[in-house]
Amino acid sequence: MHNHAMVELTDIDKIYRMGRVDVPALRGITLSIARGEMLAIIGASGSGKSTLMNIVGCLDKPTSGKYLLEGADVSRLNDNRLAELRNKRLGFVFQTYNLLPRATAMANVELPLVYSGILQKRKRALEALERVGLARRANHKPTELSGGEQQRVAIARALINNPALIMADEPTGNLDSVSASGIIALFQKLNADGITIILVTHEIEIARQTQRIIRLSDGRLVSDEKVKS
Ligand SMILES: Nc1ncnc2c1ncn2[C@@H]1O[C@H](COP(=O)(O)OP(=O)(O)O)[C@@H](O)[C@H]1O
Ligand SMILES: [Mg+2]
Repeated sequence: MHNHAMVELTDIDKIYRMGRVDVPALRGITLSIARGEMLAIIGASGSGKSTLMNIVGCLDKPTSGKYLLEGADVSRLNDNRLAELRNKRLGFVFQTYNLLPRATAMANVELPLVYSGILQKRKRALEALERVGLARRANHKPTELSGGEQQRVAIARALINNPALIMADEPTGNLDSVSASGIIALFQKLNADGITIILVTHEIEIARQTQRIIRLSDGRLVSDEKVKS
């Protein structure tokens, strides 16, 4: 199983049907991502970055084409199996953090741990918060945290089930440049720990801090380049 690519997309199309109008969001995307890579997906607004992330994250299905996640054909999995895969193997980070506003950092991070006991949840949430450098903020609510800190809480939540792959869609889009650098450094550390990281961004400076840059334009993959270190 560990010989498989993390992600293997072959000729993926995604067409949104809006009434009678077809909106092609992805066209013929073929892409292989190895275990342990850290890469960026860049492209103008509307180029298909989020659509591609949603498909890779099994939040949405392609209109056509083949998707293997760790060797498993995603189109053959039922909804329960897909939900389990998302929960156990994948972590998601969004531009707007998506934290529960009235819950503490700890409670937010515990959220994906549906079936663990209270003590186990506490322990693992604290470990995840430690990993992102926020253990001292465990009892703070989102409004009591800076943007960068809120994003760290969201990353801790994404880490709680030890995912193989983290997908981050414009994770620094709402942050000042200093906080953004801290978040990218954190992703680099997690990648060094073995987690595959896919970062969506429209900022080339952010993309250059990964190992590989994939560019989308109008739903097509138009370039795929290694970053010179
Ligand atoms: N849920 C949707 N329904 C219809 N069209 C959509 C939907 N989501 C995205 N699109 C369209 O698909 C294209 C790609 O969008 P998106 O993947 O969000 O691009 P990006 O993340 O690069 O800004 C755009 O033309 C967008 O309007
Ligand atoms: Mg987007």
